[in-house]
Order: sequence, then structure tokens, then C-alpha cells
Amino acid sequence: MKIIRVATAEQGAEIAAELFVEAADSYPRDPVGLATGGTMAGVYRHLAKTGFTPRCSEAFALDEYFGIPDTHENSYANELNREFSKGLGWNGTIHTPGQGPYAGLHGPEKFEQTIQELGPLSVQLLGLGVNGHIAFNEPGSPFDSKTRVVDLEPSTIQANSVYFADPAEVPNQATSQGLATIAQAKKLILIVFGSAKQAALTKALHSPDETTPLAALNQHSNITLITYLET
Ligand code: F6R
Repeated sequence: MKIIRVATAEQGAEIAAELFVEAADSYPRDPVGLATGGTMAGVYRHLAKTGFTPRCSEAFALDEYFGIPDTHENSYANELNREFSKGLGWNGTIHTPGQGPYAGLHGPEKFEQTIQELGPLSVQLLGLGVNGHIAFNEPGSPFDSKTRVVDLEPSTIQANSVYFADPAEVPNQATSQGLATIAQAKKLILIVFGSAKQAALTKALHSPDETTPLAALNQHSNITLITYLET
């Protein structure tokens, strides 16, 4: 794993945006992999500032809350439409697990088939949860997992409630790419800011085991971690 130490989240988001552009432009026909949440919002802001527009026509989202429509203010489909598609003036398709053609019982399987058909992704953005989750692969998720519906841990629901007008509305399930799905991307950019994530990052790097989902990825041949936390 390559580690880039930065002084601030702002600087980290700028570097992440540069690495994303470089990776996406190296394989311009391959889809890109997107993540959501507070950390990624900064990366998308920097991407928009550079005037970058992806040359690919497809993107894949890492995850989505279960049971909320794509039009919901807090759906990840809506967030990516706002911050990535509209933010960058890009007209491509974002495939979001659990939404559109990927809703329903066979949706996760169909999403997985589509990513196999159109992938591998040139680059996948990743954040880390306070509890160490990657996408919504909570601690203990199998390293060979594929896209599926998962239960969210109470700590994840609590951490994500800050993004909802009514904290009681945070869904308790999500559809998430699996750790084996994520591992197929050509490049992984992991961005970890916030002292609340220090313990999870330290454990994943220094005592990796089945409770640290990052352990499924930290031997990836092209993974870069951008952080100001202690490593
Ligand atoms: C979201 C995702 C999550 C977040 C993580 C950190 O698509 O995959 O794993 O990256 O929960 O979220 P923030 O950046 O809001 O702290």
C-alpha cells in the first residue's frame, strides 16, 4: 500500500482528485467507481474545480441505503447525481446497487453481472467508516463477498445520522458491493480523514484480521491511502 501523508483534509481531497483523474484518463473507456459521504464531497468539489469531465460513459456506485427511492434527498444515487454528474457536467450512467434495474431480489446479482461485463473499473474511490467498514462491508464481512443486502451496525447508523434531517430516518440496511467486487478495480484510492477513524485505521494496518474489512484490500497491487492520521 502506498501512503500519502497530507497536512489537511483539503490538501488530501485535492491529491485524491488528481489521482482519480490520472487513473481514469489512463483507461478512458473503463468505468469509474464512486463513493459517497462527507469525505468524498470534498474530492468531487476538487474534481469540479479542475474542469475534469470523465471520458468514460459508465460509473458504478459502491453502495446505497436499502428501501429509499433514488429521489430521496439522502439516497446515494441522488448524491452522486448532484455531486458527480451535475457537478462535472457529465452525462454518463451511474449504476447504483439496489436502485433502478438493480432493485428487488435479483438486483444485487444483476449489478454484479453488469460490473463483470463492463469492468474492470479504472479506479475506485473508497472511504473508511468509524468502525472500519469499507463501502457498507461492516466488520466481519467475508473477504470473498459480492454485492448483497447487508445490515448496518448501530455505530454506522449513528455516524450517518448527521447527514439526515431526521436521524430516525437512517435505514438499517443497505446494498453494498462486496469486498471481492471492490478488489477487482485496477486502482483503489482510500481516503481517511477524521480522528474518529484513527482506531479503525490503526487496527486495519497493524493488526489486520477478519474484523477489519480493509485487510481484504491492503495487498491490492495498486492501492493508495491518503490521510493525515497516524499510520
Ligand atoms: C459510502 C461509503 C462509506 C463511506 C464511509 C465514510 O459510499 O462507501 O464506506 O466512505 O462511511 O463516510 P464519511 O466520508 O461520510 O465519513
